[in-house]
Amino acid sequence: MTEDRKIPQHVAIIMDGNGRWAKKRGLPRTMGHAQGARTVEQILEDADHMGIRYLTVYAFSTENWSRPDSEVKALMNLLRKYMKTSLAKCAKNNVRIRVIGDKSRLDKDLQESIAYLEEQTRTNTGIGFQIAINYGSRDEMRRAVARIAEEVKEGNIDPSGITEEMIGRYLDTGGIPDPDLLIRTCGEERISNFLLWQIAYSELYFTDKAWPDFDKAELEKAIDAYNHRERRFGGLTE
Ligand code: IPE
Ligand code: IPE
Ligand code: MG
Repeated sequence: MTEDRKIPQHVAIIMDGNGRWAKKRGLPRTMGHAQGARTVEQILEDADHMGIRYLTVYAFSTENWSRPDSEVKALMNLLRKYMKTSLAKCAKNNVRIRVIGDKSRLDKDLQESIAYLEEQTRTNTGIGFQIAINYGSRDEMRRAVARIAEEVKEGNIDPSGITEEMIGRYLDTGGIPDPDLLIRTCGEERISNFLLWQIAYSELYFTDKAWPDFDKAELEKAIDAYNHRERRFGGLTE
Protein backbone atom coordinates (compact mmCIF):
# COMPACT_ATOMS: atom_id res chain seq x y z
CA MET A 1 0.00 0.00 0.00
CA THR A 2 2.65 2.50 1.03
CA GLU A 3 4.62 1.81 -2.15
CA ASP A 4 2.49 3.31 -4.91
CA ARG A 5 0.15 5.51 -2.93
CA LYS A 6 -0.46 9.10 -3.92
CA ILE A 7 0.90 11.73 -1.59
CA PRO A 8 -1.33 14.81 -1.55
CA GLN A 9 0.55 17.85 -2.71
CA HIS A 10 -1.18 20.14 -0.22
CA VAL A 11 -2.59 19.14 3.18
CA ALA A 12 -4.58 21.59 5.30
CA ILE A 13 -5.34 20.95 8.96
CA ILE A 14 -7.90 22.36 11.38
CA MET A 15 -5.99 21.63 14.56
CA ASP A 16 -8.79 21.21 17.06
CA GLY A 17 -9.09 19.80 20.57
CA ASN A 18 -6.21 21.35 22.50
CA GLY A 19 -8.59 22.48 25.24
CA ARG A 20 -10.35 19.14 25.55
CA TRP A 21 -7.02 17.32 25.56
CA ALA A 22 -5.90 19.42 28.53
CA LYS A 23 -9.20 19.19 30.37
CA LYS A 24 -9.15 15.42 30.19
CA ARG A 25 -5.82 15.50 32.00
CA GLY A 26 -6.87 18.08 34.58
CA LEU A 27 -4.52 20.63 33.01
CA PRO A 28 -5.20 24.27 32.08
CA ARG A 29 -6.26 24.79 28.44
CA THR A 30 -3.04 26.66 27.73
CA MET A 31 -1.08 23.46 28.41
CA GLY A 32 -3.08 21.89 25.62
CA HIS A 33 -2.06 24.71 23.31
CA ALA A 34 1.59 24.32 24.29
CA GLN A 35 1.45 20.60 23.51
CA GLY A 36 -0.40 21.39 20.29
CA ALA A 37 2.44 23.70 19.24
CA ARG A 38 4.91 20.84 19.69
CA THR A 39 2.68 18.64 17.55
CA VAL A 40 2.76 21.22 14.75
CA GLU A 41 6.55 21.20 14.65
CA GLN A 42 6.67 17.42 14.50
CA ILE A 43 3.95 17.11 11.87
CA LEU A 44 5.66 19.71 9.68
CA GLU A 45 8.78 17.58 9.73
CA ASP A 46 6.84 14.38 9.06
CA ALA A 47 4.87 15.96 6.22
CA ASP A 48 8.08 17.16 4.64
CA HIS A 49 9.66 13.70 4.87
CA MET A 50 6.57 12.14 3.34
CA GLY A 51 6.86 14.39 0.31
CA ILE A 52 3.96 16.73 1.02
CA ARG A 53 4.78 20.05 -0.68
CA TYR A 54 2.44 22.39 1.21
CA LEU A 55 1.07 22.23 4.73
CA THR A 56 -1.46 24.80 5.94
CA VAL A 57 -2.54 24.89 9.58
CA TYR A 58 -5.31 26.83 11.29
CA ALA A 59 -3.76 28.36 14.40
CA PHE A 60 -6.10 31.22 15.30
CA SER A 61 -9.40 32.20 13.71
CA THR A 62 -11.01 35.62 13.40
CA GLU A 63 -13.63 34.22 15.80
CA ASN A 64 -11.09 33.07 18.40
CA TRP A 65 -10.75 36.66 19.70
CA SER A 66 -14.01 36.00 21.54
CA ARG A 67 -12.22 33.64 23.94
CA PRO A 68 -11.17 34.91 27.40
CA ASP A 69 -8.35 37.46 27.27
CA SER A 70 -6.01 35.17 29.16
CA GLU A 71 -6.37 32.41 26.57
CA VAL A 72 -5.96 34.81 23.64
CA LYS A 73 -2.84 36.18 25.29
CA ALA A 74 -1.42 32.70 25.86
CA LEU A 75 -2.05 31.77 22.24
CA MET A 76 -0.41 34.96 20.97
CA ASN A 77 2.60 34.32 23.21
CA LEU A 78 2.94 30.82 21.83
CA LEU A 79 2.85 32.19 18.29
CA ARG A 80 5.39 34.83 19.28
CA LYS A 81 7.67 32.15 20.65
CA TYR A 82 7.21 30.03 17.54
CA MET A 83 8.15 32.90 15.21
CA LYS A 84 11.28 33.54 17.26
CA THR A 85 12.53 29.96 17.48
CA SER A 86 11.54 28.57 14.12
CA LEU A 87 13.92 30.52 11.90
CA ALA A 88 16.94 28.33 12.55
CA LYS A 89 14.84 25.21 12.01
CA CYS A 90 13.34 26.55 8.79
CA ALA A 91 16.76 27.42 7.46
CA LYS A 92 18.01 23.94 8.25
CA ASN A 93 14.99 22.22 6.72
CA ASN A 94 14.55 24.60 3.79
CA VAL A 95 10.97 25.46 4.90
CA ARG A 96 9.22 28.45 3.37
CA ILE A 97 6.80 30.18 5.74
CA ARG A 98 3.76 32.27 4.94
CA VAL A 99 1.25 33.59 7.46
CA ILE A 100 -2.28 33.87 6.08
CA GLY A 101 -4.98 35.97 7.72
CA ASP A 102 -5.26 39.64 8.58
CA LYS A 103 -1.98 40.45 10.28
CA SER A 104 -2.90 44.09 10.89
CA ARG A 105 -4.80 43.23 14.08
CA LEU A 106 -1.78 41.47 15.62
CA ASP A 107 0.64 43.22 17.98
CA LYS A 108 3.35 45.18 16.19
CA ASP A 109 6.22 42.99 17.44
CA LEU A 110 4.45 39.84 16.25
CA GLN A 111 3.79 41.44 12.86
CA GLU A 112 7.46 42.30 12.64
CA SER A 113 8.73 38.85 13.47
CA ILE A 114 6.26 37.34 10.98
CA ALA A 115 7.49 39.71 8.26
CA TYR A 116 11.10 38.85 9.10
CA LEU A 117 10.47 35.11 9.08
CA GLU A 118 8.58 35.30 5.77
CA GLU A 119 11.33 37.38 4.21
CA GLN A 120 14.15 35.17 5.48
CA THR A 121 12.52 31.96 4.21
CA ARG A 122 11.16 33.44 0.95
CA THR A 123 13.71 31.75 -1.29
CA ASN A 124 13.62 28.38 0.48
CA THR A 125 12.60 25.63 -1.90
CA GLY A 126 11.36 22.96 0.53
CA ILE A 127 7.89 22.48 1.97
CA GLY A 128 5.63 25.55 1.99
CA PHE A 129 4.25 26.05 5.49
CA GLN A 130 1.22 28.33 5.80
CA ILE A 131 0.08 29.33 9.27
CA ALA A 132 -3.40 30.85 9.54
CA ILE A 133 -3.44 33.55 12.22
CA ASN A 134 -6.40 35.89 12.68
CA TYR A 135 -7.67 34.02 9.67
CA GLY A 136 -11.28 33.75 8.59
CA SER A 137 -12.19 32.68 5.09
CA ARG A 138 -14.98 35.22 4.76
CA ASP A 139 -12.66 37.97 5.97
CA GLU A 140 -10.02 36.83 3.47
CA MET A 141 -12.60 37.04 0.67
CA ARG A 142 -13.75 40.43 1.88
CA ARG A 143 -10.18 41.74 1.77
CA ALA A 144 -9.63 40.22 -1.69
CA VAL A 145 -12.84 41.79 -3.03
CA ALA A 146 -11.83 45.17 -1.60
CA ARG A 147 -8.45 44.99 -3.35
CA ILE A 148 -9.99 43.94 -6.64
CA ALA A 149 -12.56 46.75 -6.34
CA GLU A 150 -9.70 49.18 -5.80
CA GLU A 151 -8.06 47.97 -9.03
CA VAL A 152 -11.35 48.35 -10.88
CA LYS A 153 -11.66 51.89 -9.56
CA GLU A 154 -8.14 52.67 -10.75
CA GLY A 155 -9.09 51.34 -14.17
CA ASN A 156 -6.59 48.46 -14.01
CA ILE A 157 -9.20 45.70 -14.13
CA ASP A 158 -12.41 45.52 -16.11
CA PRO A 159 -15.23 43.82 -14.13
CA SER A 160 -15.91 41.51 -17.07
CA GLY A 161 -12.29 40.36 -16.85
CA ILE A 162 -12.56 39.09 -13.27
CA THR A 163 -11.88 35.36 -13.40
CA GLU A 164 -11.89 32.64 -10.74
CA GLU A 165 -8.16 32.36 -11.22
CA MET A 166 -7.79 36.08 -10.49
CA ILE A 167 -9.86 35.85 -7.32
CA GLY A 168 -7.64 32.97 -6.21
CA ARG A 169 -4.57 35.14 -6.72
CA TYR A 170 -5.98 37.88 -4.52
CA LEU A 171 -6.59 35.51 -1.62
CA ASP A 172 -3.91 35.13 1.07
CA THR A 173 -3.07 31.73 -0.44
CA GLY A 174 -2.42 33.24 -3.89
CA GLY A 175 0.10 31.16 -5.82
CA ILE A 176 -0.40 28.07 -3.65
CA PRO A 177 -2.36 25.13 -5.13
CA ASP A 178 -5.66 24.28 -3.45
CA PRO A 179 -5.52 21.67 -0.66
CA ASP A 180 -5.99 18.10 -1.83
CA LEU A 181 -6.79 16.92 1.66
CA LEU A 182 -8.33 18.75 4.62
CA ILE A 183 -8.01 17.15 8.05
CA ARG A 184 -9.92 18.17 11.17
CA THR A 185 -9.06 16.64 14.51
CA CYS A 186 -11.07 15.97 17.67
CA GLY A 187 -14.40 14.84 16.32
CA GLU A 188 -16.02 18.04 15.11
CA GLU A 189 -17.14 17.80 11.50
CA ARG A 190 -17.30 21.40 10.40
CA ILE A 191 -15.11 23.89 8.56
CA SER A 192 -15.25 26.83 11.00
CA ASN A 193 -14.54 29.48 8.35
CA PHE A 194 -11.34 27.86 7.00
CA LEU A 195 -10.29 28.09 3.32
CA LEU A 196 -13.86 28.04 2.01
CA TRP A 197 -12.87 29.00 -1.52
CA GLN A 198 -9.80 26.77 -1.66
CA ILE A 199 -11.41 23.52 -0.47
CA ALA A 200 -14.06 23.42 -3.20
CA TYR A 201 -12.77 19.99 -4.30
CA SER A 202 -10.62 18.90 -1.36
CA GLU A 203 -11.14 15.53 0.24
CA LEU A 204 -12.28 15.91 3.85
CA TYR A 205 -10.98 13.69 6.64
CA PHE A 206 -12.16 13.79 10.23
CA THR A 207 -10.58 12.02 13.16
CA ASP A 208 -11.49 11.79 16.84
CA LYS A 209 -7.87 12.25 17.92
CA ALA A 210 -7.26 15.53 19.71
CA TRP A 211 -4.61 17.65 18.03
CA PRO A 212 -1.94 17.20 20.75
CA ASP A 213 -2.20 13.43 20.20
CA PHE A 214 -1.99 13.66 16.42
CA ASP A 215 1.19 12.07 15.11
CA LYS A 216 2.84 10.62 12.04
CA ALA A 217 0.79 7.41 12.25
CA GLU A 218 -2.40 9.52 12.22
CA LEU A 219 -1.18 11.48 9.23
CA GLU A 220 -0.42 8.19 7.47
CA LYS A 221 -3.98 7.05 8.21
CA ALA A 222 -5.41 10.22 6.71
CA ILE A 223 -3.29 9.75 3.59
CA ASP A 224 -4.36 6.12 3.29
CA ALA A 225 -7.99 7.24 3.48
CA TYR A 226 -7.24 9.87 0.84
CA ASN A 227 -5.88 7.11 -1.37
CA HIS A 228 -9.21 5.32 -1.20
CA ARG A 229 -11.12 8.34 -2.41
CA GLU A 230 -12.03 8.83 -6.01
CA ARG A 231 -11.69 12.47 -7.00
CA ARG A 232 -13.99 13.29 -9.88
CA PHE A 233 -14.02 17.11 -9.98
CA GLY A 234 -17.51 16.98 -11.40
CA GLY A 235 -16.56 14.72 -14.28
CA LEU A 236 -16.74 10.97 -14.87
CA THR A 237 -13.97 8.53 -14.08
CA GLU A 238 -14.66 5.98 -16.78
C1 IPE B 1 -7.69 24.30 18.85
O1 IPE B 1 -8.04 23.81 20.10
C2 IPE B 1 -6.77 25.49 18.93
C3 IPE B 1 -7.45 26.78 18.69
C4 IPE B 1 -8.67 26.94 18.25
C5 IPE B 1 -6.68 27.98 18.95
P1 IPE B 1 -9.26 24.40 20.92
O2 IPE B 1 -8.74 25.46 21.82
O3 IPE B 1 -10.35 24.82 20.03
O4 IPE B 1 -9.67 23.12 21.77
P2 IPE B 1 -11.14 22.66 22.12
O5 IPE B 1 -11.91 22.59 20.84
O6 IPE B 1 -11.69 23.69 23.06
O7 IPE B 1 -10.95 21.33 22.75
C1 IPE C 1 -11.25 26.25 14.59
O1 IPE C 1 -11.41 25.70 15.84
C2 IPE C 1 -10.15 27.28 14.63
C3 IPE C 1 -8.81 26.76 14.83
C4 IPE C 1 -8.48 25.50 14.86
C5 IPE C 1 -7.78 27.76 14.98
P1 IPE C 1 -12.49 26.26 16.88
O2 IPE C 1 -12.40 25.38 18.07
O3 IPE C 1 -12.29 27.71 17.09
O4 IPE C 1 -13.84 26.05 16.08
P2 IPE C 1 -15.32 25.83 16.61
O5 IPE C 1 -15.60 26.97 17.55
O6 IPE C 1 -15.37 24.52 17.27
O7 IPE C 1 -16.16 25.87 15.37
MG1 MG D 1 -12.01 23.91 19.30
